[in-house]
Amino acid sequence: MTTPTIELKPSSSPLSDAERDAILASPGFGRHFTDHMVTIRWTEGRGWHDAQLVPYGPLSIDPANMTLHYAQEIFEGLKAYRLPDGSVATFRPEANAARFQRSAARLAMPELPVETFIEACDVLVQQDKAWVPAHGGEESLYLRPFMIAAEVGLGVKPANEYLFLVIASPAGAYFPGGVKPVSIWLSEDRVRAVPGGMGDAKTGGNYAASLLAQAEAAAKGCDQVAYLDAVEHKWVEELGGMNLYFVYDQEDGGKKIVTPSLTGSLLAGVTRDSLLTVAEDLGYTSEEARVSIDQWRADSENGTLTEVFACGTAAVITPVGTVKSAGGEWKQGDGTPGEVTLKLRERLLDIQRGTVEDTHGWMHPL
Ligand code: COI
Repeated sequence: MTTPTIELKPSSSPLSDAERDAILASPGFGRHFTDHMVTIRWTEGRGWHDAQLVPYGPLSIDPANMTLHYAQEIFEGLKAYRLPDGSVATFRPEANAARFQRSAARLAMPELPVETFIEACDVLVQQDKAWVPAHGGEESLYLRPFMIAAEVGLGVKPANEYLFLVIASPAGAYFPGGVKPVSIWLSEDRVRAVPGGMGDAKTGGNYAASLLAQAEAAAKGCDQVAYLDAVEHKWVEELGGMNLYFVYDQEDGGKKIVTPSLTGSLLAGVTRDSLLTVAEDLGYTSEEARVSIDQWRADSENGTLTEVFACGTAAVITPVGTVKSAGGEWKQGDGTPGEVTLKLRERLLDIQRGTVEDTHGWMHPL
């Protein structure tokens, strides 16, 4: 497969330094976008072509565009960080590129070469480097690569044309409270994904499927919803847009972190994967295993499960403080962020901000 060269067509009217600085002072999450975007087309028989960096702006879409009807869409989320010397690097873009290919395969879409995915992100970050927030804080530049069907028609079939785009958005904390523990609503009747479905693909449909339960969680006063498996309604899978980790005391006095195994109906998060390694670096044991909801509650109550946290590119690492379900409610630990959660969070952020050695070769300098 050939990789098209990205043609640069920069904006003649980017935001002024003052306007950009005002946004960077308090970016929120996903509310502001940089001056440019990358677009690459795919057409059956021709492959990837017309790769361009263009001013950020609306797309003109035919009302019969297939994505609008049958949801053939996939996306990724990764971040660019400002390093101490002022340069910029992204975190594990090849892991996102590989997952993007897996998502594409699941949704019968063309696979974008890994090098094209990374180059598209690099070109956008290079062009909009001034949008990468200052070194040292919680802020970074969130990149959102995504692909939609571009064929027009109402027949249900894989499209014969696609559009890949990368947009970028300066991002602060995903949860307004930052590292303040969040509360979780345990959805016992609604499921996010089923075996053989597309729960392990990063596609908008999975997020759409999570919204009603998320709204129910909000109505119960909770920040997020946790899903159980669709068959036994017993095994903890993930939150609406984040993976989960459980921290246990071990008999030898050490700590073990456990994340639900990848059964096919939950997303293989890049942060989730990174933490399996970061935990070992910090002297903890890490494991992928099935965790039942009954065990979660019992181990919280008997004190062996000392901390629970959510993780994802957007959420980084966010402690879970309370769990509510139709059957009752329990506090996780003493309701404050746990020691292991904070240590893992600090080490991961230190790697991403370039303040500790990147021993795993995860950072991709620009
Ligand atoms: C991410 O963490 O990058 C996601 O795509 C999740 C979404 C909740 C923002």
